[in-house]
Amino acid sequence: MDLRIDGNAALVTASSSGLGKASAKALAREGANVVINGRDADRLADAKADVEAVASGDVVAQQGDLTDEGDIERLVETTVEEFGGLDHLVTSAGGPPSGPFLETDDEDWYDAYDLLVMSVVRLAREAEPHLREGDEQGTIVTITSRSVKEAIDDLVLSNAVRMSVIGLEKTLSQEFAPDVRANAVLPGPHETERIEELVEQAVDRGDYDSYEEGLADWASNPLERVGQPMELGNTVAYLSSPLSGFINGESVLIDGGSTGANL
Ligand SMILES: NC(=O)c1ccc[n+]([C@@H]2O[C@H](COP(=O)([O-])OP(=O)(O)OC[C@H]3O[C@@H](n4cnc5c(N)ncnc54)[C@H](OP(=O)(O)O)[C@@H]3O)[C@@H](O)[C@H]2O)c1
Repeated sequence: MDLRIDGNAALVTASSSGLGKASAKALAREGANVVINGRDADRLADAKADVEAVASGDVVAQQGDLTDEGDIERLVETTVEEFGGLDHLVTSAGGPPSGPFLETDDEDWYDAYDLLVMSVVRLAREAEPHLREGDEQGTIVTITSRSVKEAIDDLVLSNAVRMSVIGLEKTLSQEFAPDVRANAVLPGPHETERIEELVEQAVDRGDYDSYEEGLADWASNPLERVGQPMELGNTVAYLSSPLSGFINGESVLIDGGSTGANL
């Protein structure tokens, strides 16, 4: 299936690992020129090589911290300078720390808000004129979590703060239309460093006796496995493609069916 994004310009944030990297790979494989991002230079260089291995367009790596407004401005500027515009914005970020409510303090809440919400606010603001400008309909895909549909144990920051991102994405899908479509994907457990970190934290808290026991619990869904990052990346590429041209303001669960909500 040709996703018809060949030669388009994409910016994927927090893409030196995990779901962001998989999304960058899926877009690059379809011929989009892609800017990838992360804070650690070595990790970013490794990711660039990974994405280039499947790319038919150009891949540019730009170091930057998504909690820094200047770094966000530079990410958008670089994409426009390198590729002559910006057609597709995909936002990912690191995850907030796990733990129950009584173990979080004000700083944890403000940090989570800065990383998960303000990064998307600032990226959308900077990207908006460029997303509108191009010949292609612009797209925004925001990677959040299935925690917006169903609260997850010991993840109060994700459960609470990510709801703002969904309200933001829905608003953008209305205010930026018809020039730009905005959608979100809501991952359940996928095999990335983030999941390893969460399972290890749960083992340290005494929730599980071993890493294997914790991973098996996270994988308890009708498909009886965790997701592969490229399964999410492929969905992000589809939502960025004109083939999904009438999908706007939607939140797509990618969780193997683990969330029990009917809608
Ligand atoms: N994997 C899952 O199963 C899952 C499920 C639900 C939700 N999610 C959410 O999806 C998002 C991505 O998760 P993932 O599994 O892809 O995580 P990951 O494999 O740990 O990757 C996180 C990426 O974000 C980058 N990053 C972290 N903080 C950053 C910052 N301040 N500025 C720029 N880049 C930053 C990291 O690179 P540097 O550290 O070098 O900056 C890395 O490239 C997270 O918000 C996570 O909570 C994941």
